[in-house]
Amino acid sequence: MPDTHSNPLDGPNANPFEVAALAASDIARLTGVEKHDIALTLGSGWSKAADLIGETTATVPATEVTGFSKPALEGHVGTLRSVRTPGGKNVLVIGARTHYYENHGVRRVVHSVRTAAATGATTMVLTNGAGGIRETWKPGQPVLISDHINLTADSPLEGATFVDLTDLYSARLRDVARSIDPSLDEGVYTQFRGPHYETPAEVQMAKHIGGHIVGMSTALEAIAAREAGMEILGFSLITNLAAGIQKTPLSHAEVIEAGREAEPVISALLARVVEAL
Ligand code: HPA
Repeated sequence: MPDTHSNPLDGPNANPFEVAALAASDIARLTGVEKHDIALTLGSGWSKAADLIGETTATVPATEVTGFSKPALEGHVGTLRSVRTPGGKNVLVIGARTHYYENHGVRRVVHSVRTAAATGATTMVLTNGAGGIRETWKPGQPVLISDHINLTADSPLEGATFVDLTDLYSARLRDVARSIDPSLDEGVYTQFRGPHYETPAEVQMAKHIGGHIVGMSTALEAIAAREAGMEILGFSLITNLAAGIQKTPLSHAEVIEAGREAEPVISALLARVVEAL
């Protein structure tokens, strides 16, 4: 079983795409599903969507798949599921996210996305729980990601790999989501390194440079998904207003609680959107 100390992604001669191809063949073998059509990464608050999308045909502990790390957090489900939608699509549901703040390197952060692409998925749905900068937003509200600002100063791309990021979060897929829920607002996701929440001054900076959402995931994953040629749909659950916008201190417990409360509604929404993709 791969652990945090030995991971095939970390060797000096490791090729992350070869490791992703091995992971995809593990998934095909363990799920019995040769090809997935859509991949879905479930962040805080979105987990129930897996049950609503369709019939789960297989559940695999992520640690049995080449290159996956143990989850850093209790409550971050470390499984991969193969779900068949009523319309007959195979969805790979990724409940095992490695965050940049875990310090395992960006290869491990984007391994699930590269693996999803290697299973055949052409659509990548990325979800997260995040802080909201827009004062009109309420905790528990889902919003679409329209673009991002990557403040990690890192990239999953290695070498001189020049990838276009225009329309990174597909306008077409955002329209599909709005055809299910026309009230969905959208905003620019700003990825900070974390794991500390932002200072109020950092939130003001994010606002001034065009950010509407603050979080600790997703942007690096989206870049890798684009490199792999996937079409991307991004959703944030606003679990709290960002530091300084909300006047009370932020807490992980508050974030989890907001996710729990919003889960039935946003999971049902996500399941309907996935069916429409
Ligand atoms: N900032 C960063 N990440 C988060 C937040 C936040 O306010 N809420 C949930 N994840």
